[in-house]
Amino acid sequence: MLKRTPLIAGNWKMNKGTAAEATALIGEVLSKSEGISGAEIVVCPPSTVLYTLKGILGGSERVALGAQDVYWKSAGAYTGQLSPEMLADAGVSYVLIGHSERRGRFGVAEPDFTEGILKHFGETDASVNRKAVAALAANLKPVICVGETLSEREEGTTDGVIQAQVEGALDGISTTQMTHIVFAYEPVWAIGTGKTCSSDEADRVCGVIRAALSDLYDAETAGTVRILYGGSMKPDNASELLVQPNIDGGLIGGASLKAGDFIAIAKAAASLPS
Ligand code: 13P
Repeated sequence: MLKRTPLIAGNWKMNKGTAAEATALIGEVLSKSEGISGAEIVVCPPSTVLYTLKGILGGSERVALGAQDVYWKSAGAYTGQLSPEMLADAGVSYVLIGHSERRGRFGVAEPDFTEGILKHFGETDASVNRKAVAALAANLKPVICVGETLSEREEGTTDGVIQAQVEGALDGISTTQMTHIVFAYEPVWAIGTGKTCSSDEADRVCGVIRAALSDLYDAETAGTVRILYGGSMKPDNASELLVQPNIDGGLIGGASLKAGDFIAIAKAAASLPS
């Protein structure tokens, strides 16, 4: 099987969203990443600074731009939402979809997709699927986030939760389109808590995702999809996570706000044995 190119994505969340902050951080990311090859680097800043960063990156081959969310409509009365086409115009090539901080378990329990009754700010597998389909149609690459809560892990339902999230996200997505999809396994209990999933367990669950893809598509397709780990990834634990056979990169929150830490992780990914 061909080696999958590692992907290191920084999710800035609701941080560094002023022009001055974002300009300073991206400048450091660009200078510290000079000379890195063998790993793709993506930053996902708040939407307020996408155009600013597009101007600074100028189509950089080293650092790509991602968004933190997308809506599935192209235009209309959807206050506060951003369409895939708008994000593409702002220089975005990747988009996070279904991050646990947006999923329904923290928002609306019973979303309703009826036109005019917009109660779906709590993300569900169905809204993740709509967003992924719309993103692909605009040539954006979805980074679909999946992960179990602490109580789901304690109840022993982790694998079933993950399989359902993977399957629910991919309704109607073709084998050819799968080459543009990235998954991120982010155990909710490991996000921003300093608790990392052990590298063996992270690899095992990423393997569960790959097996689900193999069942839904075929082994060859499953073998080409990149699966990232996210949750308290730092320079000192990155290598042992990234070296795992089913882990193809990282989705990094806190450590992506420090250019030195973020690029140390990217260097660890770039120096993996092929
Ligand atoms: P932390 O790296 O801060 O745990 O965040 C992970 C995450 O949620 C990335 O999307």
